[in-house]
Order: sequence, then C-alpha cells, then structure tokens
Amino acid sequence: MTNQSEIEKRRTFAIISHPDAGKTTLTEKLLLFGGAIQTAGAVKNNKIKKTATSDFMEIEKQRGISVATSVMAFNYLGKQINILDTPGHKDFAEDTYRTLTAVDSVILIIDCASGVEAQTKRLMEVCRMRKTPVIIFINKMDREGRDPFDLLDELEDILKIGVRPLSWPIGIGATFQGVYNIYNKELNLFAANKTKISEEVISIEDLDSPDLDDVVGEGPAAELREELELVEGVYDQFDRDTYLSGEVAPVFFGSAINNFGVKELLEAFLDISPAPIGRSSSAGFIEPDADNFSGFVFKIHANLDPKHRDRIAFLRIVSGKFERNTFYNHVRQEKKMKFPNPTSFMAQDKSIIDEAYPGDVIGLYDTGNFKIGDTLTEGTTFTYKGIPSFSPEIFMELENKDPMKSKQLEKGIQQLTDEGVAQLFVQQPGNRKIVGTVGQLQFEVIKYRLENEYGAKCDFTPKRYFKACWMTTDNQEQLEQFIRAKTVHIAEDKDNNYVFLAETPFLLQMAQSDYPDITFHFTSDFKIEQE
Ligand code: G4P
Repeated sequence: MTNQSEIEKRRTFAIISHPDAGKTTLTEKLLLFGGAIQTAGAVKNNKIKKTATSDFMEIEKQRGISVATSVMAFNYLGKQINILDTPGHKDFAEDTYRTLTAVDSVILIIDCASGVEAQTKRLMEVCRMRKTPVIIFINKMDREGRDPFDLLDELEDILKIGVRPLSWPIGIGATFQGVYNIYNKELNLFAANKTKISEEVISIEDLDSPDLDDVVGEGPAAELREELELVEGVYDQFDRDTYLSGEVAPVFFGSAINNFGVKELLEAFLDISPAPIGRSSSAGFIEPDADNFSGFVFKIHANLDPKHRDRIAFLRIVSGKFERNTFYNHVRQEKKMKFPNPTSFMAQDKSIIDEAYPGDVIGLYDTGNFKIGDTLTEGTTFTYKGIPSFSPEIFMELENKDPMKSKQLEKGIQQLTDEGVAQLFVQQPGNRKIVGTVGQLQFEVIKYRLENEYGAKCDFTPKRYFKACWMTTDNQEQLEQFIRAKTVHIAEDKDNNYVFLAETPFLLQMAQSDYPDITFHFTSDFKIEQE
C-alpha cells in the first residue's frame, strides 16, 4: 500500500468528557464494535477518581493501566481507528491537553442530565484553540435528563461552538423510545441491552408516513415531527467543512451503556471525521503525505518496573513512514537515534511494529533522551510547535529532606517534570525549585515516586502564587528592567524561558500597567491570548 492509502485509512481521535459522563463506557463499546475486545468490562476503568488521594497502590495501578490503554487501535469498515485515552481525573488535565495535540478530532460526551460541566468547558477551550473538529454525543438518554433544545442551547452558549443535531431523541428517561437519524432517515428503536450489540433500525424516508405513528405511537410521533421541524428551522444544514474547521459540532443522542446510538455514532464518525492532518513546525506546515518521516513526543510514561528507569515516549507520526531500526534526527539533542523495539497498541496488546504511518501513535523505549514536545525527523531538521504548557494552579517549593541524596533528588525531579507530571520553575539565586501542578494529587505522586524510584526524600512548602506568566515583548530593555526589579518573582521554565510568578491578579495588573510593553501569557503557547 502507498503512504497515501495508509493515511486515508486512519482516524486518530480522543474521547473527552467531564468525569462520569460515560467516557470509559463509550470507549469500551467502540472497542466491542471493532471486535478489539469480546466482552464488556474488559477495559479497566482508567480513573482514580473514586480513590483517596493517598492510595498509592491505586496510583501505581492507574499508571500501569493507563500505559496499556493509552492508545487503543482497531479496524472497522476498512478504517484503522486510533483512540487516544485521556485521564479522567481533573488533576491530570495537563496530560489531557497534551494528548489533544496528538489527535485529529474528538468526540465529546455530555451527560443528558448534567449538561455542560466544568471539565467539559476547559477541554473544549483547548479544542477551540486548536480548531479541532468535535462530534458531541449526548449520553444516558435512558435516564431522566434535560430538554434536548435546552441542552443544545447550553452547548452553544457555554462551549461557544455551533451545533447541528444529526439525530433526535424520541422521549427521554422512562419515555425514551429511540432516536431518529436525520442523516440516514432511519428510526433506531431503543431496547435496554448492556451486553449485546443490536439495534433495531426502521427506515422512515417520509416523516409524515403513518408507519412512524404505528411504531412510536401517535403522541410521540407528532412531537417528533414538530421538534424536527424546529430543528430544521433553527439549525443550518450540516456542512462537513464547518465541522472540519471546528466551528460546528454535529450532535448525536444515545445511551452508551445500552449500546444504543453507538454504532450510528461510529459510522457517522467514519464518514465525516478527518484523516490524519499535518502540523505546524518551524519549517512551515508539514503535510502527512510529505516524503520524509517526522513526528513529535506528546507523552512520556514511566515504566512499571521501578528497578529500571525506562520510560515509554509516545510519538505521534505526522508525516512519511516510520521504520524500525532506522536512524532519525532527535532534533533537540542534535543526534541520530534508531529504535529497535517500537511498539503499537492494539487494544490491550502491545506489539513490536516494523513501520507506522501518519496518525499512528507508537511507543518508543526511552532511557531519558526525550522530553515532551521533542521532534524526530528524517532528513532535514525542524521542530513541531504547539505542545503548550498552561499556568499551573498550585505552586510548592521543593525541599530536600535528605542532603545525602541531593543528586538523586535533582535527577528525579528533572525526569518527572520531563514526563510532564508537573512543571518545574527554577529560581535564582540558590537554584530554588518551584513545582507547579493543576491538582494536589501530583504532589503525592511526585513524593512517592521520588522516594521509590530515586531514593530521594522531599517535602513541599506551599507558595501563594496565582499564576505563572510567560512574557513576550518587542522592548527587550523593558523586559530586562522588569526581570531585575522583580527578581524574587522571576523563575525559568524547562526551556529556560523567563516566567513571572504573580502572587495575585492585582499584582499582575500592576505589573502590566507599569511595564506596558510586556505582554503576560497564562500559557507558553503565545498564540492564545490572556484570559
Ligand atoms: P467516565 O469514564 O466518563 O468517568 O464514565 P463511565 O463510563 O465510568 O460512566 C460513569 C457511570 O455512568 C457508570 O456508572 C456507567 O455505568 C454509567 N453510564 C454510562 N453510560 C450510561 C448510559 O448510557 N446510561 C446510564 N444509565 N448510565 C450510564 P457507575 O455506577 O459509576 O459505575 P459502574 O459501577 O456501572 O461501572
């Protein structure tokens, strides 16, 4: 097969949701459809939300499971589908943001009773920023939930994205009878069924047909006709281009646990979702069908065996063809590397692969060569842009509790932050280390892993910072002046960029008005403006 036909076959996406909306359930059902697993329950819950934060065994287990389920690939209707898993726990939000740089589209799940929730909003901001195409699946229609029109309004208002229903529910909760597929003009009748994949589908070409009344009853049929008329009046016709540009999200309704609406979702996804898309780089936009191989690392995972400090770097292939045992440029380190054991992840089996194509995610064994965001290329060297760091929410100063082990501590914290467990900011004088995270849980993970994997002991002292701000300016002199004046609040990030650690919104505002030529950013990706 040519590279082009391999590219066209692939669909690489993530399922995102607020915890509990049904991400694990939907993922599992998709794998069932794809024949990648045989029984429900095979995908372990990749989440630790129901566990006490101090349950380290659970954290360890979670790490193990999430390696296995990080990428789930399966074939369906001639397409190779790569689902990239994202952690459910909000404390790992940064991990999810990074994973979103490696996908070409997402399926967003909304719980029909809860509507848009905090995490949904944040995840969608990242998708909007990257113009990622989104399909929305409104789940749990077998339960009492909100009026579909209200839900759609809320999606548009809060997520700031246009919507276009492609299916419409008949009733909800106790009165839920199924959905009408607007796209295929078919009625899918609901039957609660947690184990089998079976959907009764009746073709209803003409909504005025009395067949509709016979099947769902006169009242619900009349309501459906009325609601669909409203849908057609209110929402623009579905247009694939506005979906691909991330402006409009098609919406489906269903019940993942009952296998209902899942097949329809998957097939529509295969019809409209984008094949692997290129990425921006320091050498311009790189198309997937470029001759030379290139890719970037978006995730690094510590291996399970604490005696070996191997890690797995997850590489998204952007262009060309990746081949085993072939030398490629590790651009940041300016060296050539080859990989004897690259792995693919077919459902839960890891296996060594000889070649991989754009859209694929492969695991590379790493002994400390990679950092998140690293680029591998063949031939010319360039770097991919756009694995942003977001300002952490919680900041703590790292204190060494065992002076005999300071080397280990230094190495450990460096490696853990390369993995993206947390962000590290170094302050001078004294090389003081400020660790920043999105949630409290990472501090527990860091402490535990430093001790178990590096033999180092540490403590954390809370720092009252509001945000870490990256800075840009055309006035270098003013920036230098600012850095001198604020030394105690300036630190360097992992790439030696200066950041201003602002203690309060007020102090940030002051800094902004005193130094008008400096722009302060809450993310290291400067394309995104300050909130
Ligand atoms: P998450 O990964 O997004 O956190 O959600 P998950 O799939 O674990 O689903 C959260 C809960 O919602 C689970 O129940 C799951 O069974 C349930 N659920 C998922 N889809 C549907 C649906 O279509 N209808 C209904 N009624 N429930 C659904 P749980 O009690 O938290 O866990 P479990 O004991 O069932 O595993």
